[in-house]
Amino acid sequence: MMQEQLDRIKREALDVLKKTSLPEELERIRVEFLGKKGKLTAILRGMGELSPEERPKIGALANKVREEIEKELEYKKTEAEIKKQNEKLKKEVIDVTMPGRRLNTGTLHPLTQIIQEVEDIFIGMGFELAEGPEVEKDYYNFEALNIPKNHPARDAQDTFYINDNILLRSQTSSVQIRVMENNRPPIRIIAPGRVYRSDALDATHSPVFYQIEGLVVDKGITMAHLKSCLEDLAHSLFGEDVRIRFRPHHFQFTEPSAEVDFSCFACGGKGCNVCKGEGWIELLGAGMVHPRVLQNCGIDPDVYSGFAFGVGVERIAMRKFNIDDLRLLYENDVKFLKQF
Ligand code: PHE
Repeated sequence: MMQEQLDRIKREALDVLKKTSLPEELERIRVEFLGKKGKLTAILRGMGELSPEERPKIGALANKVREEIEKELEYKKTEAEIKKQNEKLKKEVIDVTMPGRRLNTGTLHPLTQIIQEVEDIFIGMGFELAEGPEVEKDYYNFEALNIPKNHPARDAQDTFYINDNILLRSQTSSVQIRVMENNRPPIRIIAPGRVYRSDALDATHSPVFYQIEGLVVDKGITMAHLKSCLEDLAHSLFGEDVRIRFRPHHFQFTEPSAEVDFSCFACGGKGCNVCKGEGWIELLGAGMVHPRVLQNCGIDPDVYSGFAFGVGVERIAMRKFNIDDLRLLYENDVKFLKQF
């Protein structure tokens, strides 16, 4: 009698289990048959009325029925999980044959390219990078560079003054002083940066532009070192055939001073549209550091000597990329910039 009941419960349970695979349904079925108030538990409660011989037999049978229902439940649960997993994978399927989406990559600005190229060249020669502020003291931009107040040499650089002692630096030569104040020779630095002059914006002038300053101070430094250093720069930038030319000039902070031209890399010096028919391109100011400048920084000019140069970044960029209007470099028109 009890045996039949157990059999019926088993068949009933397996029957309903067969028809579902929903996790909530499975849980409901478990409670219905195996829970504290479930059908199987109800039967086992009635075991007390059985005879001692029957009790272990029915007990064993009841356990078997429980195990079988549990096994089927477990199987169904796994089945449900697999089904769920498969559905998820189906939704997430990736079509590897779809065309790619192109990412827009930026390019380095032509001026940045030139600055990085020149930095690399000098770092390769053992120079270090230095920098100084764009809002600068008159002392560093002029006075320490041997350009006293009211000296006519100031007129060559129409300077933006913030007050009597503070200005927007008109040249990166200010960094020379800052480096020499804080370092003892040997010194080998280059200092790229923005400079400001009160010029109207046109095809060849801008109130803001870039220079790269170079400075070497050590025992026994001569003009020959300066020449070979700038020759290396010319060759690295424009190729081995480029020659350099020194023209006598005057800067307050170098003596002797020179303006330095490179032979035109495009025509080799014959004259073309890149060099405007001149065969030479003026790119730098340079010279031997004036003894008074060394002195101003506490470096003994009887023991040490040095050379310095300043190069215009826009000038290099315009010649190298054959750009005829400087303003193009500041307008940041992506169509223009993408060419380089
Ligand atoms: N500072 C000078 C200029 O702006 C260039 C220069 C630098 C000249 C270093 C000599 C030495 O014109």
